[in-house]
Amino acid sequence: MDHTLGIIKPNSVASGHTGKILSLLEESGFSLEAIRLVQLSRADAENFYAVHRERPFYQSLVNFMTSGSVVPMVLQGENAVQKFRQVIGDTDPNQAEEGTVRKLYGESKERNTIHGSDSDENARIEIEFFFPGFFGST
Ligand code: CMP
Repeated sequence: MDHTLGIIKPNSVASGHTGKILSLLEESGFSLEAIRLVQLSRADAENFYAVHRERPFYQSLVNFMTSGSVVPMVLQGENAVQKFRQVIGDTDPNQAEEGTVRKLYGESKERNTIHGSDSDENARIEIEFFFPGFFGST
């Protein structure tokens, strides 16, 4: 699949880093196919991160993701899921490579600036979560 879902997280939207992050993604070869500015409800965030329900950081992550607006987007590019994960860097900004989005703007593992889908299957589910009907009937 050539699409992935990214979400600029509340810390970066509030810090005014959205434009710089979008530029970096476009300069990396992605094209923007859909974008929104969204305030997640608690139920939305709990559903989106349901796979992490049993993890110790789950409630804190849900609190954080509902603390302000987020910017979900659909990005298109060859091998999009894997390439996007390279461009955003390691989950932990301290471990992320120089020049990656999380290295540049991340504050901690939780406040790590941006989410990216981790597989083609999840990209499809996550894109439909924020952009219902994106894939039409295909
Ligand atoms: P994200 O790509 O949005 O997917 C799950 C999120 O859980 C991850 O980025 C981090 O923000 C958060 N996360 C993962 N591991 C930890 C951790 N050990 N402590 C706190 N938050 C974490």
